[in-house]
Amino acid sequence: MSEWVRDIDFEQHGPLKRALKTVLGNPIANYMPAGLMRGLLRLTESELAAANWADPGGWRSMVISYEGKPRQIADKLLVGAGTVPTALRNRRRLATRLLARLIDQADHDDVHVLCLGAGPGLIVIDALTQATRRAHATLVDISPDAFDYGCSLAAQKGVVDRVRYVLGDIRDIDELLDTPPDIVKMIGICEYLTDEQIIEIVQATAGVMPRGASIVFNTISQAHGTDRFFRRVFGIHMTYRDVTHLQGLLGQAGFGNFAAFPEPLGVYNVVVGRRLG
Ligand SMILES: C[S@@+](CC[C@H](N)C(=O)[O-])C[C@H]1O[C@@H](n2cnc3c(N)ncnc32)[C@H](O)[C@@H]1O
Repeated sequence: MSEWVRDIDFEQHGPLKRALKTVLGNPIANYMPAGLMRGLLRLTESELAAANWADPGGWRSMVISYEGKPRQIADKLLVGAGTVPTALRNRRRLATRLLARLIDQADHDDVHVLCLGAGPGLIVIDALTQATRRAHATLVDISPDAFDYGCSLAAQKGVVDRVRYVLGDIRDIDELLDTPPDIVKMIGICEYLTDEQIIEIVQATAGVMPRGASIVFNTISQAHGTDRFFRRVFGIHMTYRDVTHLQGLLGQAGFGNFAAFPEPLGVYNVVVGRRLG
């Protein structure tokens, strides 16, 4: 599988940028008074900050980072040069490529991809367009907020007839599906859940997956060095787990044969596992 991702054009930070972040950028972000920082972001009309204040770590802020083309000056700095937004774009590239290859690897047509906590489904939409084998997706979210945006994006990319948005709680996944999924995507969600919630969700998901079906999920590490900033200024509280820990949680629900793919900033791993028999 490692050859699947070898030619991805990742964004990197050079040694000078990393050193400047360590000695200057991160300490300022982490220790400047939070009220002052929020005031500056309000003054400069940061869309990333506004999206996070409305819904910390929600799909809108993720789309702003994924697209990487902000309009406001503060966002150009945060989204363009920030370690987490850059790593998010790397994660997007990695997850999209892995999903597209998993679709191509299937032994039948019209592969079914299930997306848990989908938001608008940017990654799945891209994977459907990149895969050579035909696939369709069921995108489940507890909030319908992102569905219109997702549909218009799918229409732009010519796959609107292959995506189905479903409003529901992924813990009740067995009640929401017509057909079993071949591939399950769970990107951008575990970091906002407790161990117990993850186990509940993956147990329910394992129950609807055939033996050998794939699951794609991600870990997050504190390598970005700005957790204090995210907590104090954006109100985002993420839970950091290493690959072994998260694989252990999925192992409890009957998953195994894991392969982990790190992005080059060391913040995210995208992991592929299989539903064991
Ligand atoms: C951070 S966003 C990630 C969106 C998308 N997966 C991505 O990577 O861009 C997390 C999404 O999970 C959804 N979510 C959280 N808990 C959920 C649950 N129990 N059932 C369904 N969706 C849930 C939220 O509504 C939100 O849209």
